[in-house]
This record gives sequence, C-alpha cells and structure tokens, in this order.
Amino acid sequence: MKLLISNIKTLVQVEETPRKWVAGTDMANLNCIDNAYLLIEDEKISDFGKMEDMPNYDEMEGFDHVEEIDATGRMVFPSFCDSHTHLVYAGSREIEYTDKIKGLSYEEIAKRGGGILNSAKRMHDATEDELYVAAMERIHEIISMGTGAVEIKSGYGLTVEDELKMLRVIKRIKETTPLTVKSSFLGAHAVPAEYRGRQGEYVDLVINEMIPLVAAEELADYIDVFCDEGFFTVEETDRILNAGMKYGMRPKIHANELDYSGGIQVGVKYNALSVDHLEFVGEEEIKCLKDSETMPTVLPGAAFFLNMVCSPVRDMMNAGLPVALASDFNPGSSPSGNMKFIMSLACINYKMLPQEAVNATTINSAYAMGVQEELGSIARGKIANVFITKEIPSIEFMPYAYGSNLIDAVILRGQRL
Ligand code: NIG
Ligand code: FE
Repeated sequence: MKLLISNIKTLVQVEETPRKWVAGTDMANLNCIDNAYLLIEDEKISDFGKMEDMPNYDEMEGFDHVEEIDATGRMVFPSFCDSHTHLVYAGSREIEYTDKIKGLSYEEIAKRGGGILNSAKRMHDATEDELYVAAMERIHEIISMGTGAVEIKSGYGLTVEDELKMLRVIKRIKETTPLTVKSSFLGAHAVPAEYRGRQGEYVDLVINEMIPLVAAEELADYIDVFCDEGFFTVEETDRILNAGMKYGMRPKIHANELDYSGGIQVGVKYNALSVDHLEFVGEEEIKCLKDSETMPTVLPGAAFFLNMVCSPVRDMMNAGLPVALASDFNPGSSPSGNMKFIMSLACINYKMLPQEAVNATTINSAYAMGVQEELGSIARGKIANVFITKEIPSIEFMPYAYGSNLIDAVILRGQRL
C-alpha cells in the first residue's frame, strides 16, 4: 500500500533526525517544508521533501498502484498525541456543571454525591460492553479532530473489580482502534466513601491487591496517583509508585493542581514520564524538573473548565524546560478531547505561541506518553498518523480559528479514514 500526498502547501513538524523532545526557546521553532510531498508506504512515513525534488514515482518499479491525494492549498500535520485522558467513563456530569454555575463549591458538589465518586457509582453500574461502546464514540470523535495517539487512565472504578473492568475496556479499545493507545492504572484517584477516615487501608488495597492483579493481566503501561491537597499525600504516592514500578509500570502522575503538593518532586524522584496539571509551580519545582527525564504536562481544558489559575508555562520554558499539552478528557473537569481547542486555550490563556503549542501537542506530548519514537512528527520510519487541513492561510490560523473544524482528512497507520 502506497499513498502519495502531493502539492502540500506546508508540511508541518518535519524531522530529519527525530528528537526526544523540544525545550525552552526551541519550542518557538517549527520545522516545515512549503510546497511539499509526503510518501507513505504501508503504515509508515517513507519519504518527504519539496515538490521540485520529488522522484518521478510513475516511472519507478513497484509504484504502479499509488493512491494520490492532491493537497493544493492544504497543510499536513502529524496527528496530535493526547497524553492524558480519562475517556472511559459512564454518563456525563452536566448537573454538577450547572451547580457550579450557580455558585456551589467543589466540596458542596462532592457532599451531594458529585465529583469523582459520582463517576465511580456510574462506573460500577455499567457493563464492560456499555463502557466500550460509549468510549468508542469518544474515540471516533477525537480521531475526527486530529488525534492519532491517546493515553487513557482508569480511576473511576476504585474497587478491585471495577478498576479491572475499566482497564479491560481500555485494552479492548487498544485492540480495536487504529489509534495508538497507552493505559495508566489510577486506582489512587480518590478515596471511596466506604474508606473515609481509613485512607491508609485504601492505599494498602491499591498496593497489595489492585497492582498485582493489574500487572498479572498486563493491563497498564503506567502508574498514576492524584498527588494533591485533599487527595493522596506524598508519602502515599511514594509507596504506590514504588509498588507499581516493581511491576514495570513507570510513573506518570497528577500533581500540583490544587497546591504546591510535592507531587512534582516525588514524580521526578521516581523518574516519572510526566507530571501533569501543574497549576502550582514555583522556582523549587522548576529546579527539580531541570535535568530530569520528566515531561511537565499542562492541561488547559481543566483549568478553563474549572476556572483555575494558569500554570506558569512561560517560566518553565524560560528556564529551558520542555512543556507538553493534553486534553484531560473526562466528565468532571474537561469534557472535551479537542486538541485543536487545547492549542487555542494554550495560546490565549498561557500566551504560548502557535508554534510552541504545536510542539507541545505533538513531539512533546508523544514523549509524555512514551511514543516519541514512532509518533509526534513527520519523520522517516515513524507511523503515518497525519491529518490534512482544509485550505488555510497559515499555521497560526489553526489555534486562531478556535471554533472551526479545519480538518479535511485523517490518515491513521497509512489508511485514509
Ligand atoms: O484530571 N484531577 C484529578 N482528576 C481529574 C478529574 C476527574 C473528575 O472530576 O472526574 C482531572 O482533572
Ligand atoms: Fe486527569
């Protein structure tokens, strides 16, 4: 199978030699080729360059059945990598949304049975099939919006059986979608009501029962903990990460969303792949992230939806750090997986340049979910997950036209959908 995309107005995020990530002032640079072609063979990107240098494929052996797309006026981007979602869930939570509009606090909503525990109750009542069907609808939606890789967390089960049920649904999604999917075990997302006042016992359950069973069925790539004020402490996080790492699950955690929680430090201590949210980041946290292998990941959708302070993204980049962006797609704090809108929020609310936002949603977010060797840029040998835009005047137009669907065609693993 060969697919040739020709006359591309701009081929975005091109790499001759793939990089691990893009950091600091480099984040403002995007390598692009104007008037370009892209050749895909089977599932992979095999070649690209300027139209004037394009080989005469018509005359080459083995090129008699090449599908061709003429992309005149249109751009080609590598698909977004969404490195942080909770997109397996049952039901929505728009009642809490209206309660919030009316002025109810997070605590008041939780007291009425809202929040993560609300989703846990619905998760318990849903069958694996129901969860799979609902999640696949979201998967199809994010594919149509340009996402080519997604990380999905458990964490709405909060019992041994229900956490396994969620992770089995994620496994089924992995096996049945052309998207690249990574899974994270987030048993320590909230303390279930029946463990109130006995949080340590719940942590023991996560460590002694859940983690070994999750590992035995090979259901998780990563281990996550909500390490924050009112949720899990640094000490508890330390114990849970240690337990997960013994089974080969690399940490990738929720940190510093509600306070200077120490989450970043414990994440870096255990070489977390990423620390995510990061509304509360000061000099100490930045110093800790420097020279680490941990990707600071910001979730502008959650900060927007919950009206939170913005993470100091510019300070992190000025200090030379890389930054990734993800959607946090979940029913409580970010009910959308639209990565193009995440770029717009990053530009408007965090003053990221459009080029920085593209780097943060492709190469850097690929690193944050451990797929940077196969995805995140246009590079020879990488998986051919790309999208073709509609006719647009510039790269900046993508986040600028924040409400418009600018995607004309999606190609996953070399197949046009
Ligand atoms: O990433 N911060 C913790 N967990 C989720 C919210 C989950 C929910 O409210 O359902 C998040 O934003
Ligand atoms: Fe999250």
